[in-house]
Amino acid sequence: MKAKRIAGEKAAEYVKDGMVVGLGTGSTAYWAVKKVGEMVKEGLNIRAVPTSEETKELAEELNIPLVSLADVNYIDLTIDGADEVDSNLNLIKGGGGALVREKIVAFHSKKLIIIVDESKIVDKLGAFPLPVEVVHFGADKTLITLEKFDCQPKLRKENGELFNTDNHNYIIDCNFEVIENPKELNNELNELPGVVETGLFVEMADRVIVGNNEGELNIIE
Ligand code: 5RP
Repeated sequence: MKAKRIAGEKAAEYVKDGMVVGLGTGSTAYWAVKKVGEMVKEGLNIRAVPTSEETKELAEELNIPLVSLADVNYIDLTIDGADEVDSNLNLIKGGGGALVREKIVAFHSKKLIIIVDESKIVDKLGAFPLPVEVVHFGADKTLITLEKFDCQPKLRKENGELFNTDNHNYIIDCNFEVIENPKELNNELNELPGVVETGLFVEMADRVIVGNNEGELNIIE
């Protein structure tokens, strides 16, 4: 927990007065949002776009002023977590199920800072099953199509029920083990009917802040 906390709190230092800030989702982003909330309490003037209903609720509790993406031309800075980060700063995201909104917010951000503990740093992506968001209609057929990618796709469940995203879609977790070409795979998957988006974030991150439980930080750019 210390690793996630120090990474999250460090990232909040990049938030400056007047910015529009994208607020990520998950247990690491939580610490960044908490810190931004404290800064707002002390007078920081920002507007924020949350990447999930969960983060929206947290930001509301902390009195962080929220706007919808439609209300701004762009986002200055987004801070978000990740499930894996490779040596080219490509990411797997979506372990928490918020990948679609996270990717849209990241795409419209001038800067994307990723915050992780050191266990998330890998040579190649793929050991963490890749989340792929799919629409309900034909989801069983989309799953069969994904099986052809040899990735043991599984519809995500939570408490025995199929997991529904904030966008009322399902997630299929795909265990690729090693992803040699994240860009190509992202493009191939996104071409399949029924696929809304994948958790591959290719060439999107500008900076990765890595924390460890000894309290040390490493910033990769
Ligand atoms: C949610 C995400 C999260 O950022 C990712 O799963 C990392 O979560 P955590 O910080 O809890 O380990 O992509 O969709």
